[in-house]
Amino acid sequence: MDLFEKATSNMGPLALHAEEAKGYYTFPKLEGELAPRMMFNGKERLTWSLNNYLGLGNHPEVRKADAEAAEQYGLAYPMGARMMSGNSSNHELLEQQLSEFVMKEDTMLLNFGYQGVLSIIDALVDRHDVIVYDAESHACIIDGVRLHQGKRFVYAHNDMENLEKQLGRAVKMVEKTGGAILVITEGVFGMSGNQGDLKGVVAMKKKYNFRLLVDDAHGFGTLGASGAGAGEEQGVQDDIDLYFSTFAKSMASIGAFVAGDKKIIDYLRYNTRSQIFAKSLPMALVLGALKRLELLRTKPEIKANLWKVVDALQGGLKAEGFNIGTTSSCVTPVILNGTVDEALHLIHDLRENYAIFCSIVVYPVVPKGVIMLRLIPTAAHSVADVEETIAAFRAVKDKLVNGEYQKHQVADLSLG
Ligand SMILES: Cc1ncc(COP(=O)(O)O)c(C=O)c1O
Repeated sequence: MDLFEKATSNMGPLALHAEEAKGYYTFPKLEGELAPRMMFNGKERLTWSLNNYLGLGNHPEVRKADAEAAEQYGLAYPMGARMMSGNSSNHELLEQQLSEFVMKEDTMLLNFGYQGVLSIIDALVDRHDVIVYDAESHACIIDGVRLHQGKRFVYAHNDMENLEKQLGRAVKMVEKTGGAILVITEGVFGMSGNQGDLKGVVAMKKKYNFRLLVDDAHGFGTLGASGAGAGEEQGVQDDIDLYFSTFAKSMASIGAFVAGDKKIIDYLRYNTRSQIFAKSLPMALVLGALKRLELLRTKPEIKANLWKVVDALQGGLKAEGFNIGTTSSCVTPVILNGTVDEALHLIHDLRENYAIFCSIVVYPVVPKGVIMLRLIPTAAHSVADVEETIAAFRAVKDKLVNGEYQKHQVADLSLG
């Protein structure tokens, strides 16, 4: 059989409806300035699907800093991996400032979050070690765990009783192998919006000997009094051994970092293969990140605006009887019941007739019969945007409940 046969016979679950969906449900193009209202399919839509939590993507000071940095350095400098020829004082300054911001001794920059997490896990564990991780972890954690050559135990999402059971198994295992235990969870789970029970995980440290890695992609900049994330929010930042976040969300950029004690960060500098064997972050991105971090530090009103919008959105949806699950962060899921076909009709109606653009999650990512709309509020949205959205949601939910989206086939939708 030809290896490429699968490209026609089994494209994989995400490619379901690929033919009809392309450009509309999958690979949509949001055009114009990064803002709550963007152009999609020729019309302006109120957009709730960008992880631009603090609205920094198009902040005038950020745009200026990005442009000036690109003008001064281009996109090539520095060349080579950090360890070889790609280091600079600005890279080190950003690491120092990030360490202060997340209250850790030291920080290592990463080019990408996904690759960074994968590679950090790879650097930390060997075949004698055991990983214990939350079942709803992001793909970068799951894929990092898949690289691991030793044992791994998964615990039910945020279930501390089950975590303890898995830690018990892990302890038995490392007693035999002479290895150690790494626990991995997230600060905020990006689909449900649940914060990871970091307090609960940290409490286990009293009974079990393990190190804790937290991926706080959605918590950094949005949670905690100073914006240092879910660890700060839950009062356990000091007990997180390795604190990771990406620049792809609150920082509205590319890149990532991991922070912890100097000794372990130095070890990672010399053992994280995604950094050792890759060109370092371009200077323009580093200078852009410094500017973003300055705004996070010096303009708390930006985070306050974000939470004003989050509270209005989540409070308003709940008051209207919507099920927003168990979110305890900015991520706002709206859970409805219906088939995949109904979900596609509903989203089409929302986009075309109410000019609202949000992400949709259907089976197989959520159970059959569940439709999850996922809203990401930002500091750039207004309370009027929230009201417009809730009114539209009320209308489409009524149509869904009344069976109106059952009347047509997906193929009937004019997506062009
Ligand atoms: C929880 C989590 N970890 C890691 C990543 C990957 O980060 P990056 O986009 O920097 O690769 C993401 C998504 O961006 C994420 O949501």
